[in-house]
Amino acid sequence: MSLLMQNAMLIKTARELSDSLKTARIKKKIVGFVPTMGALHNGHLSLVKRAFLENDFVVVSIFVNPMQFNNQEDLKRYPRTLEKDIELLSSFENLIIFAPNIEEIYPENEVFIPIDLGGLDKVLEGEFRPGHFQGVVHVVHNLFRLIMPNKAYFGMKDFQQLAIIKFMNKYYGFPLEIVACETLREETGLAMSSRNMRLSENDKEDALVIWKTLLFIKEKKGNFSPKELQVKAIEFFKLGKLELEYLAIVDSETLKEADDWKSSNVCCIAAYCGEVRLIDNLLV
Ligand code: PAF
Repeated sequence: MSLLMQNAMLIKTARELSDSLKTARIKKKIVGFVPTMGALHNGHLSLVKRAFLENDFVVVSIFVNPMQFNNQEDLKRYPRTLEKDIELLSSFENLIIFAPNIEEIYPENEVFIPIDLGGLDKVLEGEFRPGHFQGVVHVVHNLFRLIMPNKAYFGMKDFQQLAIIKFMNKYYGFPLEIVACETLREETGLAMSSRNMRLSENDKEDALVIWKTLLFIKEKKGNFSPKELQVKAIEFFKLGKLELEYLAIVDSETLKEADDWKSSNVCCIAAYCGEVRLIDNLLV
């Protein structure tokens, strides 16, 4: 395969992917990787654009990973828009869209040794989605092994995922850089997410309470301790219509609850807007 493709190329098997990337490696091309579960939006596209600028060659994976869904209903409802995703990516040059089926990602003879994530997977999302992060680590590990990129791009909206991916990258010793990318927001402040496709215009209005609460915390930070502010922020959040799952102010590396304010605190929120589960966070 030529490394100067005019348009993005769709690949479905690990074998084809490996053949294509062989040429890239021989030519010492820098390969960037953007893992996704599809249903692409501008947030994903901003990661792809950044990867495109910083690498010779970019792989975007589109794979809805069943292993990371602890709720089968959520898995069933996860939006799948492959044709539209391909269309959105088709104008990028030197880009491979890797859209495998499950056997390609989890072959019978795969080599994966689960790791202890040092408790990072037990708090916040981990408390409400048991097994979720082990599923994420498994799929990202297998994708890294297949693609062996130089750089991999992850959005900060999934803050805990990013912390865990950094941890696992060090643990397995993958020779690649994890690049953290800012959360892209609608003009209103709503964080872009594939799940927003399931929200009505009214829902989107209601969901703004998440962003407003994060801003509330940032604004009031000087007046209260993290614990006091957590209580106030929960009260503020509950004036809106969403059902809160958790609101926590934690250290951005250990994800442990913050006792006092440090430069590296992050506030994380998960809530239901009707049946749609939304998460967001802000460094405060
Ligand atoms: O963030 C996501 O979309 C997924 O968790 C990822 C990293 C693609 C793994 O399935």
